Amino acid sequence: PYRAPAHYRHERTNVSLLIKNGEIVTAASRMRGDIFCEDETITAIGQGLTAPAGAEVIDASGKYVFPGFIDPHVHIHLPFMGTVTKDTHGTGSRAALVGGTTTYIEMLAPARQEDLMQGWRHWNELAAGNSACDYTFHIGVSKFDATTEAQLREIVQQGMTSFKVFLSYKGFFGVNDEELFRTLTLAKELGVRVTAHCENDELVAQLQAQLLAAGKTGPEWHEPSRPERVEADGTGHFATFLEITGAKGYVVHLSCEPALEAALAAKARGVDLAIECVVPHLVLDKTYAERPDFQGAKWVMSPPLRDKRNQKPLWDALAAGLIDTVATDHAPFDFAGQKEMGRGDFTKIPNGIPTIEDRVNLLYTYGVSRGSLSLERFVSAASTRAAQLFDLYPRKGTIAVGSDADLVVYDPGYRGRISASTHSMNVDYSGFEGVEIDGRPSVVTVRGQVAVRDGKFVGDPGRGKLLRRTAGR
Ligand code: URP
Ligand code: ZN
Ligand code: ZN
Repeated sequence: PYRAPAHYRHERTNVSLLIKNGEIVTAASRMRGDIFCEDETITAIGQGLTAPAGAEVIDASGKYVFPGFIDPHVHIHLPFMGTVTKDTHGTGSRAALVGGTTTYIEMLAPARQEDLMQGWRHWNELAAGNSACDYTFHIGVSKFDATTEAQLREIVQQGMTSFKVFLSYKGFFGVNDEELFRTLTLAKELGVRVTAHCENDELVAQLQAQLLAAGKTGPEWHEPSRPERVEADGTGHFATFLEITGAKGYVVHLSCEPALEAALAAKARGVDLAIECVVPHLVLDKTYAERPDFQGAKWVMSPPLRDKRNQKPLWDALAAGLIDTVATDHAPFDFAGQKEMGRGDFTKIPNGIPTIEDRVNLLYTYGVSRGSLSLERFVSAASTRAAQLFDLYPRKGTIAVGSDADLVVYDPGYRGRISASTHSMNVDYSGFEGVEIDGRPSVVTVRGQVAVRDGKFVGDPGRGKLLRRTAGR
């Protein structure tokens, strides 16, 4: 059995739980059986397990039992483009749980003008005691000045073992090439993985200016201002810097075939580059952002929703294991009052699509139920791989004796539709309004305690813990 390191010590809750007769699926195996959890931990897996007096028994017949899902790219609190995302750690974490996500990795994203240490404290204060599920942070590096290196060393020491850089959004979050080089050099020394938003910022700025000067101001011009080649260029650029510094990388929200080719070419020459795609790019396309009457603003994100022909290469690479993870890039801005800030100028539409609640159901529906993704690949992409890449495995990301009892009993017989009128996220629209789903979690546990039953949060709203990690070399 897995023995957790000292700073992971499980707490005694005197709760025990037996999940019986489910089809237990991990990234590497499938078996029908039972899972017994004591306190916060999985303590037995087998067949014919019996429950001691007082244990809660959940019948999972006809259902899958998955490891709790991990979303490695979310923005709960994001001050951005003159406004702030709508979710709190309370609303965002409850929505995550309803959708089967039991751990999220949030981008700690102080702007260039702000102090990183203050940002670290601020994000911690916002989340502590307010998240219903466990969480950790990628440390946003938005500059690399005289104080940055010591601050990064300190925060890594405190257990945040991944960085985030933006090659886009210069002047706000974005780093220049010198800063990128210094960040990666430090990351290499510390053994931490660097996640990156990859778009060539100068090309975006020039194209935005050209389009606006030509009177092209609506949300449908967002995609042409950040075309596929701009992302492929950013991806190749990041890969070159990884190659030269020897650091470990991770490209976030890769959206299109040219960027995929750039990333795969880097991997083929030995660059340690993991690839993330996000649900909006897998399921939606750029025609959504072309909807009339400014409605398209709901689907403005960066990199943009793409031409539909990009979806098959993404799904194929995911099925083949060439794409590592499926995240959300959850970034909830209301249509009213927030997306509307960009009426008359698409460059002022706050970028982002809220998805934290819908990721697992959409990936299951369009990957497994209606696509060709195996259940094992589904678990890998939505849980296990993120745990491995970001130093959470095997505490999270699998079903094994000694692992945290974060489990999702999933009902593949459920049929429903996504709607803003029923979702738990604190945002006034859904980018997936009316979209059908072929399954949903019927029970979700957080370290051995039931947090969701049949679409309703029933857990402890402040139970989530900050997950401190140790960098794997
Ligand atoms: O449009 C997006 N992706 N908004 C959130 C910030 C980012 O770039 O990840
Ligand atoms: Zn991004
Ligand atoms: Zn993001």
